[in-house]
Amino acid sequence: MQTDFLVIGSGIAGLTYALKVAQHCPDKTITVLTKTQSDETNTKYAQGGIAGVMDLDHDSFEKHIEDTLIAGDGLCNKQVVEIVVKEGVQRIEEIIEWGARFDKESDGDYKLGKEGGHSEFRILHHKDVTGKEMERALLAAIAKQKNINLISHCFVIDIITQHHLGYLVTKSTPDIECFGVYVLNLASNKIEKILSKITLLATGGNGQVYRSTTNPAIATGDGVAMVYRAKGRIENMEFIQFHPTALYEPGIRGQNFLITEAVRGDGGILRNHAGEAFMEKYDKRKDLAPRDIVARAIDNEMKVAGTENVFLDCRHFSKEKFTEHFPNIYEKCLSIGIDVTKNMIPVAPAAHYSCGGIKTDEHGRTSISHLYAAGECASTGLHGANRLASNSLLEAMVFAHRSYLDAVKKIDKISFRENIPDWKTDGTNVPKEMILITQSVKEMKLLMSDYVGIVRNNERLSRAMKRLDLLYEETESLYQKTIVSPQLCELRNMITVAYLIVKCAEFRQESRGLHFNTDYPGKSERVQNIVL
Ligand code: FAD
Ligand code: SIN
Repeated sequence: MQTDFLVIGSGIAGLTYALKVAQHCPDKTITVLTKTQSDETNTKYAQGGIAGVMDLDHDSFEKHIEDTLIAGDGLCNKQVVEIVVKEGVQRIEEIIEWGARFDKESDGDYKLGKEGGHSEFRILHHKDVTGKEMERALLAAIAKQKNINLISHCFVIDIITQHHLGYLVTKSTPDIECFGVYVLNLASNKIEKILSKITLLATGGNGQVYRSTTNPAIATGDGVAMVYRAKGRIENMEFIQFHPTALYEPGIRGQNFLITEAVRGDGGILRNHAGEAFMEKYDKRKDLAPRDIVARAIDNEMKVAGTENVFLDCRHFSKEKFTEHFPNIYEKCLSIGIDVTKNMIPVAPAAHYSCGGIKTDEHGRTSISHLYAAGECASTGLHGANRLASNSLLEAMVFAHRSYLDAVKKIDKISFRENIPDWKTDGTNVPKEMILITQSVKEMKLLMSDYVGIVRNNERLSRAMKRLDLLYEETESLYQKTIVSPQLCELRNMITVAYLIVKCAEFRQESRGLHFNTDYPGKSERVQNIVL
């Protein structure tokens, strides 16, 4: 199969880019691949909303820029922050034109919410299911576009580069090129090659590397792992954001339901098991301090009291007020016996967002030619050491747009590469025991949660690396002799991502933003990105 533009991922980044390219180039073919159902993305689960300076009477670009820089703890690229904040408003207006609906006041103005680290009310939202509404609008617009072929249940295994033509490719090879991808088509169960002129990776996050995460099962860091294997540049993987308030449900592992930060924006108060509103001990912004601070405070409260959760107190909300903004959370809590107007909500931090990823420039270009990256899999420089709440949907749209502008200028100068070999499957066996994969996934999640969580130290990182080495060896050996499956590919990708997180964490000999190492409690004077 050949396609002019190939898009891997059907979340906000992939769909925004595909739509723009398709509208601009009606004579070109655009193929969007997604590994499960087309709407099963991190995007669909976004709750709080999208940050944007929509009310210039009370807010300003400067304030949003300043809030982003403060959250990023000295590591944001200021130029990129300015780009995202200023261009973001046009991108929000576009998605509204494509049909996304955000809540409005009775006078027609947008209802704007507030979340941790924001100095103003600037979060547009659709109740507490903003991502679902944005994903719906984008998929509906895509369905009307004749030159887009959206293929679900198609698992991308690897990016094709000169390496597949028999050349030695290393990190110092000057012009690594992307010619397309190998995919496991789950409908036919065959491995196919798709050749493309330009490819965009929009593969989302990697929360599944941890035992507790707000991310769905698809979030296994595939794009980052593929680029690393292809010898592209990866940056700042140590900055994993733990959301302070995932719903604590004993026994639930895999995807933890999120209690949006907007609940604290509307007045929710964190309390420990003694009933104390503890955030004032940690930060003057209390419950609305940036996420790294709140998550560490909760972690500390849990460790001191020996508990597995704290509580979010919303008992002072009226039922009307709560259900108007958070109907989905209300129903979810009720379904497990919690009436939020009478009972406090048990919450605990969970892995939520990857601030680092595939290194890109301000046009979304990766270090590999003809390969772009946008959305959560990319490291654009916006988030620095800690992402400001509700900035990621914004970033995804801004960089999808910038990648599109750059790609359409280049497409006519690029040809398909001939003579790409088929995937080699000779001599591989059908896996006999799934347990070899599932047990390794469990071990990896456990070691990452226990040793590479909210608080780290050198001993824990070194233990994590030793255990990952063993898992890596075992998994590579299995991969060499077994027919590939999504489960095996995801395990392999997650081990690579876990390795990258630990490696970057070892290199960062300081505590900054989301990375807190008790052996280096202060900030280094040398402010640097870690690039692998
Ligand atoms: P995703 O939406 O995750 O899409 C990834 C796509 O890549 C999927 O289609 C997947 O199938 C595909 N894919 C991955 N690997 C492969 C492969 N190997 N082969 C084929 N396809 C593949 N951000 C905000 O700004 N505001 C919020 O309110 C907010 N709330 C959130 C709440 C939750 C519970 C979560 C989990 C995240 C939240 N975020 C929020 C973060 C935000 O939702 C994500 O960062 C963003 O949606 C990522 O979009 P994306 O397009 O990069 O990737
Ligand atoms: C939330 O709604 O709390 C999540 C917002 C985000 O991750 O940006």
